[in-house]
Amino acid sequence: MTVKQIQDEIIRLKKEKDICILAHAYQSREIIEIADFMGDSFALSVEASKVPQKTVIMCGVRFMAETVKILSPDKKVILSNPVAGCPMAEQMDRELILQVREQYPDYTVVAYINTTSELKTVCDVCVTSSSALTICKKLENDKILFIPDCNLGDWIAKQIPEKQFKLLNGGCPTHARISAKEVENVKKMHPDALLLVHPECKPEVVEKADYVGSTTGIMKFAEQSDNKEFIIGTENSIVTNLQLSCPDKMFYPLSKDCICSNMKATTLVDVLNCCKGVFGEEIELDEDIRLKAKACIDKMIELG
Ligand code: 13P
Ligand code: SF4
Repeated sequence: MTVKQIQDEIIRLKKEKDICILAHAYQSREIIEIADFMGDSFALSVEASKVPQKTVIMCGVRFMAETVKILSPDKKVILSNPVAGCPMAEQMDRELILQVREQYPDYTVVAYINTTSELKTVCDVCVTSSSALTICKKLENDKILFIPDCNLGDWIAKQIPEKQFKLLNGGCPTHARISAKEVENVKKMHPDALLLVHPECKPEVVEKADYVGSTTGIMKFAEQSDNKEFIIGTENSIVTNLQLSCPDKMFYPLSKDCICSNMKATTLVDVLNCCKGVFGEEIELDEDIRLKAKACIDKMIELG
């Protein structure tokens, strides 16, 4: 079969079986093209909760499918490829956070949405990369324990010097791999380009950026800017997305290695097989875990 034939078959099956397909912006183009929605993990889970379809296929990683299930418990939520986990989301466990909470009982525990639902049950509030600053500012408590990403935490902490932050040593291996040396080299090659980076990158990379933001923020910034050239410091799918949405502008990856193997684990054929009902994993969450994790997300919605 050709890519086009597989895409047509997926479109036919999703209509016949009344399925909604979500694709994170880091998925391959051939998957994004057949998706009903493309975006960041939280935006996708909100879209999924509004659609009439009772079955949702999440093309992304496990914590994203769990977030969809947390917000839509009555829907059948399928993770497009069961091996697609996020190393950052799975770096810390409940027991570790409970121990740290005991050590710092007067701190509010803020969890990046890139965490397992189990981990969310022992945190106070969730944040996304785009809402983290607003939410940390709004929290009444001036003592914040930010988990798991120390790079995102560091970026937020520097913008709210009046609050005390404790960071743990977690992070995204894909973004943390980018070095300040790579920034120097790429900037030399493209001196007129603006540098747009994700806050999951190391502080020495973030401090050289012209704009720091979420995947959605980076795409919006590049689309709306009058500048013609951009260096993109996040997963390289965003370079491709931008090249297609702004063909009159030039986009260069900050690092050829910024590719998330977990995000790329899902293939178009996996999506076809999920639609056929012969592949993918249905996400099941214990109701107690779901409700506790949801409380953390509800707090984010209330503050954000
Ligand atoms: P956002 O899409 O929320 O910016 O997150 C980036 C990311 O690394 C998702 O895994
Ligand atoms: Fe996880 Fe990083 Fe991959 Fe996002 S890019 S899924 S944070 S490993």
